[in-house]
Amino acid sequence: MKRFIVMALLLSIAGAQVDYNSQIQTIFNEKCTGCHGGSGGLTLSSYDELMKGGNSGAVIKAGDASNSLLIQRIEGSVTPQMPQGGDALVDSVISLIKKWINEGAPEKVSVTVESQLPSRFEIVGNYPNPFNPYTRIVINTMTHVQGQASIVTSSGKSIYDFGSISFEPGSNSLIWMGKNYSGTSLSSGIYLFIIKYDDRILTHRMVLLK
Ligand code: HEC
Repeated sequence: MKRFIVMALLLSIAGAQVDYNSQIQTIFNEKCTGCHGGSGGLTLSSYDELMKGGNSGAVIKAGDASNSLLIQRIEGSVTPQMPQGGDALVDSVISLIKKWINEGAPEKVSVTVESQLPSRFEIVGNYPNPFNPYTRIVINTMTHVQGQASIVTSSGKSIYDFGSISFEPGSNSLIWMGKNYSGTSLSSGIYLFIIKYDDRILTHRMVLLK
């Protein structure tokens, strides 16, 4: 039953829009700009440079990930596969970039009126994201909230528990070392941070990228 709830949550999270600066650019900074940092050809150090493309022209086809050269290169359907000479990106990271392209490859997430309303209790984000080896999760609240915080894998398996936490009015943060219950460092992938309080559940998606 518990697992079922988490899966239902995953579906709703899958709907959240990908943010270029905090999610996509950080991947390029970590894995690509060592070579694509601006000495001719494709430069991946900013949104504008990325959209300019490289020697073959555009590498992103907004709305069409599978026909975007950048995806073909990181998946290896067009060789040489990128990152050149290095390990291929993990599937969850490739899926994230594809999702962003299929959403139209926007520079900024479109802000809805709803998300501008001040919220009583919210997970602001985790910094950095993607992260390695640890990340700081920020939670803002207007009132005192007692909650249970934990981490599950993208398939809903519980892997870490922060226990019962008292969130004080203002900004609160939790550090997660990217380790499971037994202190073992986890591998690259998508992990969900979950807070249960009163009769509500909030979740936030984090990417561990090694
Ligand atoms: C070790 C160096 C290196 C790394 C790291 C690297 N690339 Fe490349 N990349 C190259 C070289 C060299 C070329 C040009 C030669 C070619 O097209 O095969 C290239 C070409 C490309 C092209 C084709 C550009 C065009 O216009 O034809 C794309 C797209 C690309 N890389 C994406 C990436 C992405 C995305 C990453 C990070 C995930 C990455 N690369 C990491 C060296 C690298």
